[in-house]
Amino acid sequence: MDRISVMPESLANLIAAGEVVERPASALKELVENSIDAQAKHILVEITLGGLKSIVVKDDGTGMSRDDASLCIERHASSKIKTSYDLMDIRTMGFRGEALPSIGAVSELRIDTSDGVEGTTILVSGGKPPKIQEAPLRQGTTVKVTDLFYNTPARLKYMKSPQLEKAKCVDVMQHIALGFPQVAFDVRADGKLVFSTTGRGDRIEVIQHIWGNDIAKAISRVDKVSYYGYSFECLIAKPEVNYSTKYQMMTFINSRFIYSFKLSRGIEDAYKDYLAPSRYPFACVFIDADPALIDVNVHPSKKEVRISGEESLAVSVRDTIRAALKQQRPIYGDRDTAQMVNQMSQVEPRISAPQISAHPVDQVVSQPVMPDSEFQNILAGTSGIAFQGNDRQETESAIAKARDSLAVPQPEAPVEKP
Ligand SMILES: Nc1ncnc2c1ncn2[C@@H]1O[C@H](COP(=O)(O)OP(=O)(O)OP(=O)(O)O)[C@@H](O)[C@H]1O
Ligand SMILES: [Mg+2]
Repeated sequence: MDRISVMPESLANLIAAGEVVERPASALKELVENSIDAQAKHILVEITLGGLKSIVVKDDGTGMSRDDASLCIERHASSKIKTSYDLMDIRTMGFRGEALPSIGAVSELRIDTSDGVEGTTILVSGGKPPKIQEAPLRQGTTVKVTDLFYNTPARLKYMKSPQLEKAKCVDVMQHIALGFPQVAFDVRADGKLVFSTTGRGDRIEVIQHIWGNDIAKAISRVDKVSYYGYSFECLIAKPEVNYSTKYQMMTFINSRFIYSFKLSRGIEDAYKDYLAPSRYPFACVFIDADPALIDVNVHPSKKEVRISGEESLAVSVRDTIRAALKQQRPIYGDRDTAQMVNQMSQVEPRISAPQISAHPVDQVVSQPVMPDSEFQNILAGTSGIAFQGNDRQETESAIAKARDSLAVPQPEAPVEKP
């Protein structure tokens, strides 16, 4: 008796969604990456209840024609790669053509898009066939994801609290904003501004907007270093800025935030003589690489990538940061002094103005953020969300709390049948 049958598209999408859309933060990441690939200059993000209730991403990018909009929710439909050769030369954030159908399979998905010639609305509910409607002309795209995982109760059950899911969404947005300083972001959660960047292309300014003045002032730029097909630059904070977790050690390849154990270790080693054990610095490494040296196609979230010559690249990063730190603080080269500083930093992490830096930050100026009222107006058109107030402090303390709890390894959730 024949027992094998090809799955219907809706079931295949539901299975793919399990990998691509792990939680609200992964859906958000996919949507914002799509906006970046569409050359958006300004991206507005609004999440409600940690993204579990809704995620809205609005961009001023190229938008889609009616035909493209109808296709974009089909599995493996992508404008980004056409042949197997393209897979070796990925220059966009997306390439699989899986994100939108996966999100549409596990939520209520609404896409309003226009390429300036025609406007289209696509409505998808839990992977069912889409409704396609005429929409107003406004070049760009707004995607709204409502009730994520409403039809996969097993997945929904394993979501953390809205506060923790929000913290994960904010983390994703911080990394994207730092990776793409030339794009202006406005990030809101439950009607309150979390952070906003200007899109002026200055990463230190982005750091200032996200992590605050004290951290931004403690940062030095380390000149671009070329290394066999790679070049990288670093933004490193003085050792006095240190943490109990590694979250502030960030690595990017071709603007994509990635996790690399070896690169992370390289940064850690560079600071070794300046920090107490189990204290970690604020340091970002931005690597430009020939796409042929990188394989992004190894992990569903694209966060882990294969890097040719990763080990020696990590050594180069380590030596570069170490040399820059030594130049700033030759006195710390002396082990006794380093020990003293370590003891001090164990007592209380301190932040103070930089003394000598290879490239001091001349000026870190507070930039005006988009007023709440203006943001409301822009978003109200599609999301219908009412906003009030701005409570950055509350959000930051929630993020800090969430991070602390993340530092404790969570047991694997048992897999349940839906
Ligand atoms: N905000 C947007 N603006 C313009 N086009 C978009 C936007 N979002 C999606 N698209 C179009 O829809 C297509 C499908 O998007 P989707 O995210 O599903 O796949 P992808 O980005 O090609 O690959 P991946 O699954 O790796 O993200 C994209 O290739 C792009 O052409
Ligand atoms: Mg995509």
